[in-house]
Amino acid sequence: MSSNAMLEPEPTPIVACTISRDVSNFDMLIEDMETVMGNGWGDLTFADAQVYFNQPDSDLLEFVAIAIDHASENELATIAALVSTAKEKDIKVILVAKDVSPSVLHQLLRLGAADFIPYPLPNGELKAAVERIRALAYAPSRTAIQVQPETIETVQPQQPQGSYAGIILPIHGLAGGTGATTFAVNLAWELANSGSKQEEGPRVCLIDLDLQFGSVSTYLDLPRRDNVFALLSDVDTMDSASFMQAMVKYEEKLHVLTAPFEMLPLDMLDVSDITRILDTAKSNFDFVIIDMPSTLVNWTETVLNACNLYFAMIDLDMRSAQNAMRFMRLMASEELPAEKLRFALNRAPKFTDMNGKNRVKRMAESLEIAIELQLPDGGKPILQAGDNGVPLAIAAPKNLLRKEILNLASSVLELKSSKQAVQQ
Ligand SMILES: Nc1ncnc2c1ncn2[C@@H]1O[C@H](COP(=O)(O)OP(=O)(O)OP(=O)(O)O)[C@@H](O)[C@H]1O
Ligand SMILES: [Mg+2]
Repeated sequence: MSSNAMLEPEPTPIVACTISRDVSNFDMLIEDMETVMGNGWGDLTFADAQVYFNQPDSDLLEFVAIAIDHASENELATIAALVSTAKEKDIKVILVAKDVSPSVLHQLLRLGAADFIPYPLPNGELKAAVERIRALAYAPSRTAIQVQPETIETVQPQQPQGSYAGIILPIHGLAGGTGATTFAVNLAWELANSGSKQEEGPRVCLIDLDLQFGSVSTYLDLPRRDNVFALLSDVDTMDSASFMQAMVKYEEKLHVLTAPFEMLPLDMLDVSDITRILDTAKSNFDFVIIDMPSTLVNWTETVLNACNLYFAMIDLDMRSAQNAMRFMRLMASEELPAEKLRFALNRAPKFTDMNGKNRVKRMAESLEIAIELQLPDGGKPILQAGDNGVPLAIAAPKNLLRKEILNLASSVLELKSSKQAVQQ
């Protein structure tokens, strides 16, 4: 070896690769790979990657970022084969998806891709994805990192009952921040606590279908379990046991299916997936509370048709009024079951606020709806309870909002009794 060669620094080993049709279409990925991996990465085309995976050097790869756009959907078979080979070789796959249809994404995730990030890449997202896959690869026990045993208990497989006929109650904020999650979490908790010393309370589950920004896990301080993502990416093979196992229990009483850790496209789930999730939930619980995304999706109608009552949360403002109007128009044009709708006005004016009361009346009249449920403003304690991950019944039992939700829970329980009476 010449002395010059000895002075040359050791080349950085390549431990990551981008794989794409043409990496120059993914400028931000190049920048982010440089930030996260320095010189330790290379770029390959789909064809190059097939060859490279057969070479011993590829054993050093920690992960590959497969970047796909609409045009590369034509090469889906090649891409799918790459994902499968990477999985066999224990190389983690991060999908970087630009205008890719949800079904393609779904397929690749099912084949074993570990994570996906939309393109343009959100700031810091590649770094976060790499950290996640490293945590999975190097954690002595995957569950030890994600699950805190003192608060969470894996539901035992013998628990799925499969013989219930649950009442489905979705909650849909018709504008962002109207309080849908606060309402869903606390209604579920009040129902779960409605048993007495003599009688066990109803079996209640809370499902966060706000797949991208779901905050049920935050409001109950629960971890987002890995198997939620696995469950949602392959609902076809879900059964009562896998459904129950993806849930975490809050304080022994409330079963919660949190939103997954990954931000998934809302149309990753289709109508048949949702039908299966609802059927499974219904057959295992007395009450199924669902936190819906604000956005309308192709399965909103499925939930509307399957539910018993559908709570639409609004605030007393123009934004909510306009969205409520558009929602009602849609209900009429699609012949959806408007009789199931229950409008819930959050932060409703106090009894003594005559001016506010008049505004509510005018809003209801102009929308031609009944606003049957009015939830008071509970002030700062509501935000604090959410931030601390504790239901209002524990954090602020005397709060006016908590009392109103408790009242509603009693009415909902009566609904259950009357349904049972009709069935007998
Ligand atoms: N009745 C209320 N009184 C006081 N604060 C409230 C009330 N309802 C909700 N909040 C607060 O408003 C904020 C938004 O509530 P929440 O997250 O429940 O709304 P959301 O409709 O689920 O929002 P997103 O659109 O983000 O899903 C939270 O900080 C919550 O604590
Ligand atoms: Mg919410």
